[in-house]
Amino acid sequence: MSQNITLTGITTTGTPHLGNYVGAIKPAIEMSQRKELGFEGQYFYFLADYHALIKTQDADRVHQSAREIAATWLALGLDTDKAVFYRQSDVPQIPELTWFLTCVAAKGLMNRAHAYKDAVQKNLDAGEDPDYAINMGLFSYPVLMAADILMFNATHVPVGRDQIQHIEMARDIAQRFNHLHGKHFNIPEAVIGEEGAVLKGLDGRKMSKSYDNTIPLFLTEKKLQKHINKIKTNLLEPGEPKDTEDSALFEIWCAFANADQKAWMAQEFANGIAWGQAKKELFALVNAELAEPRERYMELMESPEVIEQELQKGAEKARAMASPFMEKLRDAVGIRALG
Ligand code: TRP
Repeated sequence: MSQNITLTGITTTGTPHLGNYVGAIKPAIEMSQRKELGFEGQYFYFLADYHALIKTQDADRVHQSAREIAATWLALGLDTDKAVFYRQSDVPQIPELTWFLTCVAAKGLMNRAHAYKDAVQKNLDAGEDPDYAINMGLFSYPVLMAADILMFNATHVPVGRDQIQHIEMARDIAQRFNHLHGKHFNIPEAVIGEEGAVLKGLDGRKMSKSYDNTIPLFLTEKKLQKHINKIKTNLLEPGEPKDTEDSALFEIWCAFANADQKAWMAQEFANGIAWGQAKKELFALVNAELAEPRERYMELMESPEVIEQELQKGAEKARAMASPFMEKLRDAVGIRALG
């Protein structure tokens, strides 16, 4: 029986927040730590820094974000002996594969990508040229992502809903390459987290950097408390029963609580807990889970060379797999030594 190969990438443009933690980082790390039967597959987690360049040319931001994201995953206990943890740009076979795939990917397929179409539509709405400020990176984004996935022959790709189309495109491109050059690639499947894994932000909308409503994961205690105090509530007074439905506060509580704690807070809402008190309880709960990793995070951020070492360890493992595979693919497309 062939083993599962799970792979996912994190674009290095931002600071990890509670939504990232609950929806992506925590489940991925837990998966990498599972030892029981059925979870003995391979795990690849990487910093998608080439993808970051599509979104920003702010070099400091890209660099700082890579450091923060890597420190976060390590601080939270990612087992780097079990999972291959690397930086996309440390694996030169990925951009090489990107080109091979670019040459079999249909342009019409890329025209249909949501991210690209949204950008064009925004331009049209603003009365601009349809291609205004759209770079080739954005247009070719799905091909680079396909290369990330196919380079390690991933079978399972955990992503958010907004990325499903990209996985479908990777499947399409893999099939096309296999059809032309023989069966080299597995056809990857998207793995979508549960609905509850999307966290609400300070304003009640989905927690997202683009809404500027996030709670960064590793804040000092004081700042964490301040952010939690900013979670939007309503004007109900202490003693007035409160609705758990649509409450960002209750939702964040549930992302950190066990079953008993969930039931307890639901009862407190019904009893009319004061918002200030609920926020204090939430702070204590979240802080209890994050206090230890926060300390490790601060230490790691002070010693980037330790982070770098881990990334190099991962890159070596990644290249050791990518290099022979790439040799096979080169041969398959007719790029090989003469005589
Ligand atoms: N595009 C993904 C995102 O923005 C990040 C990413 C890059 C990725 N390459 C990947 C995810 C490969 C899964 C597999 O979230």
